[in-house]
Amino acid sequence: MSLLQVEQVSHKFNSKRLFKTNNQSNNVLHDVSFSIEEGSCLGLIGTSGAGKTTLGKVILGIQRPQHGKVLFQGHDIYNVDKATQRKLRRDLQVVFQDSYSSVNPRMTAEQIIMEPLENYEKLTIGERRSKVVSLLERVGLSEKDLKKFPYQFSGGQLQRINIARAISLKPKLIVLDESVSSLDMVTQSLILELLKELKVDFGLSYLFITHDIKAAFSISDALGVLEKGELIEYYESKDEFFHSRNPVILRMRESILAEHPRFRSLTKNVKMV
Ligand SMILES: Nc1ncnc2c1ncn2[C@@H]1O[C@H](COP(=O)(O)OP(=O)(O)O)[C@@H](O)[C@H]1O
Ligand SMILES: [Mg+2]
Repeated sequence: MSLLQVEQVSHKFNSKRLFKTNNQSNNVLHDVSFSIEEGSCLGLIGTSGAGKTTLGKVILGIQRPQHGKVLFQGHDIYNVDKATQRKLRRDLQVVFQDSYSSVNPRMTAEQIIMEPLENYEKLTIGERRSKVVSLLERVGLSEKDLKKFPYQFSGGQLQRINIARAISLKPKLIVLDESVSSLDMVTQSLILELLKELKVDFGLSYLFITHDIKAAFSISDALGVLEKGELIEYYESKDEFFHSRNPVILRMRESILAEHPRFRSLTKNVKMV
């Protein structure tokens, strides 16, 4: 059994427009199916507006799709009793792109990280404090940062805090929606390294949603490409990306090959269409 199974998910937002032309479709997801295995990272790439965030929300249980199913640990997440739903929520966490708007500006780092722990675990103040300190240290921060507020951190540091919060309950799957996209290149690669280490240490699985093919390559095992709401390609091994003859993939490859020395030798196989 896969950890996560997305089965034939389709979704359309209700359009509030009064006048529609016949070819004006507002389908955001069309018949999307894939799975994520335990301990693995699926990179989901696609241009802006492709439907990535909507798909992430469908998986997180916050956007019920009009068609299809999401099975997490074998349970249909939109058809479970309250107790199972609570357990599934604990095992499924999220880190969004904008680290500042993901946190309450009036909460300290300690309070931010402690929030999920408070919802799920009955710990004494001392136990909670030591757990938060060890989480801070695990993401490269320290006890000195406990009482700081979001504005006192850089974007990268704050994303480390969001990651600490996401791993605090030892979840099974983390949805990372453009989680490193707004960081500078150096910070981005440091956070990617941290995520790779945590994946092994905590036995995590990731859905790594991004428009950045290089970032997806760096962290993913499997890769999916979402284009206008359709999963046009799915590779169990990311290297298959280089063998695809799909014109959309050829264009994507061209956009990274020219600037990326590791891939430059492959440019000769790319034909623009
Ligand atoms: N709540 C919403 N209501 C109506 N349309 C939406 C809503 N959320 C997203 N969309 C539309 O769905 C499409 C996909 O958006 P999104 O999932 O955010 O794409 P991505 O994350 O790939 O950039 C876009 O055209 C967007 O305008
Ligand atoms: Mg998005």
